[in-house]
Amino acid sequence: MQIEQAKVKSHTLVGGDYRELVLSAPHTAGAARPGQFVHLRVPRLDGSVLRRPFSIYRARDGQLSILYKTVGRGTEAMEAMAVGDRVDLIGPLGNGFPVEAAGNSPLLVAGGYGVAPLSFLAEELAPTRGTVFIGGGAARDILCVGDFESMGWEVRITTEDGSLGEQGLVTAAVDGWLAAHPDATPVLYACGPEGLLRAVGERGVAASHTAWLSLDKHMGCGIGACLACVQKIRGEDGSVAWKRVCCDGPVFEAAEVEWDG
Ligand SMILES: Cc1cc2nc3c(=O)[nH]c(=O)nc-3n(C[C@H](O)[C@H](O)[C@H](O)COP(=O)(O)OP(=O)(O)OC[C@H]3O[C@@H](n4cnc5c(N)ncnc54)[C@H](O)[C@@H]3O)c2cc1C
Ligand code: FES
Repeated sequence: MQIEQAKVKSHTLVGGDYRELVLSAPHTAGAARPGQFVHLRVPRLDGSVLRRPFSIYRARDGQLSILYKTVGRGTEAMEAMAVGDRVDLIGPLGNGFPVEAAGNSPLLVAGGYGVAPLSFLAEELAPTRGTVFIGGGAARDILCVGDFESMGWEVRITTEDGSLGEQGLVTAAVDGWLAAHPDATPVLYACGPEGLLRAVGERGVAASHTAWLSLDKHMGCGIGACLACVQKIRGEDGSVAWKRVCCDGPVFEAAEVEWDG
């Protein structure tokens, strides 16, 4: 982990409200693993929290990219970033997804921008291929389908309004797959909103399948100092302790996570 002055190489709208920001950042890109993130200092942003966390989508040849959706002040300010701008980032941060334990039939479950780290994961898992479930509210939320298809993955798309793929929740498609493969022992990897993570985690625990969840928490420092990002995690001895998502995570196994409520 280090601070790097990255340079914007390209910044393009890739669909819906999502943009891909490609940065020249040789040190961070060279060390990055799937599921890790960068904490990017947003230029021209006032306030006490100046950085925002983004999963690493691609890391190769000294460049890394992120896929982001504009949802508030920070990401709105990011839209103005132009080719040649300098950006201060800390990374790569977090533990990332365990790739060694993926088995023969990994199942990836993505909601919205959660597809970004899972595309990077699929690259790392090659030549192993599996099935990826990509869900969103509408067609405009479905990203990276071509990434997975070009790597030979089976892609299952669901949208809540039915504008692309099957209509419904992504977890319904996962349920269908699990019911159709009763003897399979897949390892699940999920990234997306908390509701999706909880639902995938419940399925993993119920069926005794390992399910790795990348938690999405608001962050302050990104490096373990401020405790803005804590989550209750159950240890092997059954005791529950607060863990920092930024440095102990963001990836945890489903059986460890103690959800609130
Ligand atoms: C490990 C990690 C990886 C992430 N990777 C990506 C990524 O690849 N692409 C991407 O677009 N976003 C990603 N995010 C989320 C991203 O950091 C937030 O969307 C961003 O911080 C929002 O900043 P903002 O100032 O634009 O919005 P704010 O003004 O801070 O918030 C706008 C709205 O979004 C909500 N919000 C903000 N941050 C989060 C969050 N982390 N979880 C849930 N709701 C939130 C707020 O409650 C508010 O309703 C990631 C978050 C984490 C923790
Ligand atoms: S964001 Fe500060 S401890 Fe995690």
